[in-house]
Amino acid sequence: MEKVLSGIRPTGHLHLGNYFGAVKSFVKMQNEYDCYFFIADWHSLTTCPSPENIRQSVRTILAEYLACGLEPDKATLYVQSDVRETLEIYLYFNMNTYLGELERVTTFKEKARKQPDNVNAGLLTYPTLMAADILQHRAHWVPVGKDQEQNMEMARKCARRFNNIYKVEFFPEPQNFYFSDKALKVPGLDGSGKMGKSDGNCIYLYDEDSVIRKKVMKALTDNGPQAPNSEKPEIIQNLFTFLQICSSKETYDYFDEQWNNCTIRYGELKKQIAEDLCKTVAPIRERIREFSSNDELLEKISRQGAEKARESAAATLREMRQIIGFNPELR
Ligand code: TYM
Repeated sequence: MEKVLSGIRPTGHLHLGNYFGAVKSFVKMQNEYDCYFFIADWHSLTTCPSPENIRQSVRTILAEYLACGLEPDKATLYVQSDVRETLEIYLYFNMNTYLGELERVTTFKEKARKQPDNVNAGLLTYPTLMAADILQHRAHWVPVGKDQEQNMEMARKCARRFNNIYKVEFFPEPQNFYFSDKALKVPGLDGSGKMGKSDGNCIYLYDEDSVIRKKVMKALTDNGPQAPNSEKPEIIQNLFTFLQICSSKETYDYFDEQWNNCTIRYGELKKQIAEDLCKTVAPIRERIREFSSNDELLEKISRQGAEKARESAAATLREMRQIIGFNPELR
């Protein structure tokens, strides 16, 4: 059976970008593939969170994974730092990756600009750790949002290069998986590109209905279409993207037509989006409460997941060591 891997950094709560860009695909794929979904706590160290913050966020994401419908009997759910094998694989990929390639990654350049006093090696080698996450399971599919495209390109490069250097067909080239036919970027509510850039532009899965309504009603708009059938400016296109991901096609077409004939009322559009988002979020929010108070269950699931993930990673690592010319097992 083909393998799937994906993960999320524990930086607080899951937001709608995480849900529609990634977790919704996880839930679908767990029924059809051999799935590994993890919490990328090593990756979160690039911004130096406090120990309490990490512990809390890891628990939160696991509870929210479960609340979204991930089932530990179907998919392996684990915490990245429980699988030490990843680090050795990361080292091998770092040896085959050029400085120039890593420096050209857009997210590295952005992060380096944002935190000029802390441009650390972990930030630079973020894509090779991500490649190790994926390739340690020899995963074929990686469900991710649009923002991960360049990291995925690097993961494919790591796979290809290892195969070429050692003249083997060991790693498959992992492919991006999208829930619908193309990569999704869920916009932020403040018009600043993608959801997730800052707290102020996110709707979280644990948000109450009243909070969701308030956030959506505050989303930026303009003065309305100036001519029939005109192109939508970005902030309006963003609202239509929300319609696309949370409403029916009829609803989308209804507002699209209103835009085209210049009768659209943004208040009505936002109300519709808020109601449809609440419908998706409310049942998840209820389950988040249930799962996040069950420490024993979360601990048990993490332990079982770690065991399975380690087994899979150890098998890959053993073969990599053999291929490279090391002892497959430690002496
Ligand atoms: P992270 O934690 O930033 O985001 C987790 C997942 O959510 C998706 N996502 C979005 N999709 C659409 N629109 C948005 N506004 C939006 N915001 C977030 C991301 O595309 C991602 O799929 N590097 C990864 C974590 C990671 C990983 C991996 C992922 C580490 N190793 C191996 C896949 C495979 C990250 O920081 O995602």
